Amino acid sequence: MIRVLIIDGEGSTSEMLAGCALHLGYDVSMGHTISECLKKVASNPPDVIFIDAELPDGSPLDILDEIHAAPSSPTVIIWADSGTAESAERAIRNGAWDYTRKPASVKEMTACLTRVAQYRREHQSNDGTAEIKRNGIVGNSPTMRASMDMVKRAADSDLNVLITGETGTGKELFALSIHLNSRRSQDNFVVVDCTALPETLVESILFGHSKGAFTGADKAQDGLIRQAHRGTLFLDEMGELPLPLQKTFLRVLQEHRFRPVGGQKEVESDFRLISATNKNLEQMVAEGRFRGDLLYRLGAMTIRLPPLRQHPEDIRDMAVFYVGKVCRRFGVAPKKFSDEFIQYLTRYDWPGNVRELFHVLEHACAAGFHEETLFPVHLPQELRITIARSLFDDDHRAPVGGGNGDRRSAAQQILSLKRFRQTAYSDLEEMYLRNLLTSSAGSIKEACALSRLSRTRLYGLLKKYNIRH
Ligand SMILES: Nc1ncnc2c1ncn2[C@@H]1O[C@H](COP(=O)(O)OP(=O)(O)OP(=O)(O)O)[C@@H](O)[C@H]1O
Ligand SMILES: [Mg+2]
Repeated sequence: MIRVLIIDGEGSTSEMLAGCALHLGYDVSMGHTISECLKKVASNPPDVIFIDAELPDGSPLDILDEIHAAPSSPTVIIWADSGTAESAERAIRNGAWDYTRKPASVKEMTACLTRVAQYRREHQSNDGTAEIKRNGIVGNSPTMRASMDMVKRAADSDLNVLITGETGTGKELFALSIHLNSRRSQDNFVVVDCTALPETLVESILFGHSKGAFTGADKAQDGLIRQAHRGTLFLDEMGELPLPLQKTFLRVLQEHRFRPVGGQKEVESDFRLISATNKNLEQMVAEGRFRGDLLYRLGAMTIRLPPLRQHPEDIRDMAVFYVGKVCRRFGVAPKKFSDEFIQYLTRYDWPGNVRELFHVLEHACAAGFHEETLFPVHLPQELRITIARSLFDDDHRAPVGGGNGDRRSAAQQILSLKRFRQTAYSDLEEMYLRNLLTSSAGSIKEACALSRLSRTRLYGLLKKYNIRH
């Protein structure tokens, strides 16, 4: 039976909704505050939560993570009669199912309840993340579970996938996991590192060559793209692909055919493409350094891997996993961790993410080689200093990139929140407009149709940002 939780002020809407839910045979409970919501989520996790955006003791936007971490992973609908566009965006980005105005009639409410129930049923029967092969991906936080959910969806489809994330967040590991869980797992997973393609050989490396195509080509050779036939082609550091090659590659992506260097006939390759980058490709498109049409093709599905500082609750599991691996390699018994050791690790910001964590753990294992338990003293000294200093900093978090007064000078550059919002908003608006013009190949008519802006408004905005068209 679907369990519905309604958190709203006193009033007819919540009672009407409760009536509709009971009529549909659902189990209903009600409350009026954020703290009541959290208590109910902890004691009897609901399947669906309808919650008002303005409650006396806070905003539901601040507790979405906590709600989603409940074992039932509730579906959340936020009612916001006087909401703002920013809050709507924040709600959706943080996993709310909907952020909308209160339904006004019994008919609308019943329709809404039935839709959510249908979604829950279909989602649960499709949620096979438990059966997914993790191939060494560690982490069970809601954030990590959401990423695994994306891996599952990507593996079940044959869409092009773009994986983004800071350095060391596991882009290559996740790409391999998608391949291993896909129907292509029996064939090759071919990695192309776009930073390491020598200009003179790049075409032959990717497309292969025929015998005698150039001096030294004494026999024909398949390129990497052909080697990925029936398998997966992984383009790593995609943002580094030179512009002329982007054009060639776009064609290969569309046709899945290409001509080897010196060859007469085109060759076919049925590959699935996964690409990864730690660059902001949208911004590169806006700056004319990456082709918009290629980005559009690459990201039929996009997986954004979170930085480690956004899911510190996974650090213990990662430490157990990696220290266990190191101990096995050295043939020593697995080590235990003192509580302070894990506390230290969770107080750092990890700019190098999981890769940096693993390096640090490797160091700790070497430093505590003869001991049974790892203590903070086994961590690299610089890191201990940074973490120890952070205890005395205002925000109790270790600053990214070390201590050494960085934080104070960074603090001086901090803008007021209002100013920061304005700047970020203008940056985004400008980026949008540049993208828009690229996508509409400079045609104002098409740009107006795509953006749903009037001609006058569009011209006004282009003028504001000094964008030529
Ligand atoms: N969730 C995870 N569980 C276990 N290991 C992980 C996880 N995420 C990353 N790693 C490990 O961290 C290291 C870095 O991962 P990977 O090379 O995939 O990162 P990346 O995002 O491709 O980084 P870069 O942008 O620098 O190339 C690898 O050793 C990888 O196995
Ligand atoms: Mg990588």
